Amino acid sequence: MQSKNMNGLHLGIIMDGNGRWAERRGLSRSRGHEAGVRAIRPVVEAAAASGIGTLTLYAFSSDNWRRPAAEVAALMGLLRSYLGREVDAFREAGVRLSLIGRRDRLPAGIVRRIAAAEAATADGAALHLRIAFDYSAREAILAAARLADFATDRDAFARLVAGDEAPDLDLLLRTGGEKRLSDFLLWESAYAELVFTDRLWPDFGEGDLAGALAEFHGRNRRFGGLSPSAQAA
Ligand code: FPP
Repeated sequence: MQSKNMNGLHLGIIMDGNGRWAERRGLSRSRGHEAGVRAIRPVVEAAAASGIGTLTLYAFSSDNWRRPAAEVAALMGLLRSYLGREVDAFREAGVRLSLIGRRDRLPAGIVRRIAAAEAATADGAALHLRIAFDYSAREAILAAARLADFATDRDAFARLVAGDEAPDLDLLLRTGGEKRLSDFLLWESAYAELVFTDRLWPDFGEGDLAGALAEFHGRNRRFGGLSPSAQAA
């Protein structure tokens, strides 16, 4: 296994299954999302200790606006409280927090909190935690296309899509049993290893992360080339 990323692996997680977790307990979907938020911290801590340099969590897709207003409001409230609550812990742990996705449709108070959290954690060097919120990979690619011209090469286009410091994805993990990408980091996933687990996100923990990483490290990444043994033959 080799990575092309210089500052540790880039892990992306589609955190799916909050609704089913709640329904199985006779709880509202919003309670499931609350449990989903609680599941994040141990995974962030374990990621920082596991050679992951960038962790991107898919918290709200641009298509999630289609959900019932009460559920959307609950997710907005969770983002608001999460940003307020976690910043000090992130600073102490050296976690840099960024949000990717649109901000123009978010409430102004949340946008201010995002900016404050990003500024407060900007020096964090242990892990770059990116929360994808009102995010659409297709929109990111379309926005890049609008900025590109005929001289834009692939690396320059990649920077337009993903920003200067967003590396290609090494491992894309989806919880909750579904096996699809759901408009998450499509450009950055060109050579990502895919791992799908039936575990519902609120039940996902350090052991599951370790298992996914073990599977990843067992993969033979060739990036379209040959493995070193075949190359030598
Ligand atoms: C998918 O579960 C999950 C989401 C749409 C949101 C993920 C959100 C969180 C983990 C909490 C919010 C996080 C932050 C940082 C504010 P689903 O509802 O589609 O579950 P289902 O497939 O079982 O219905």
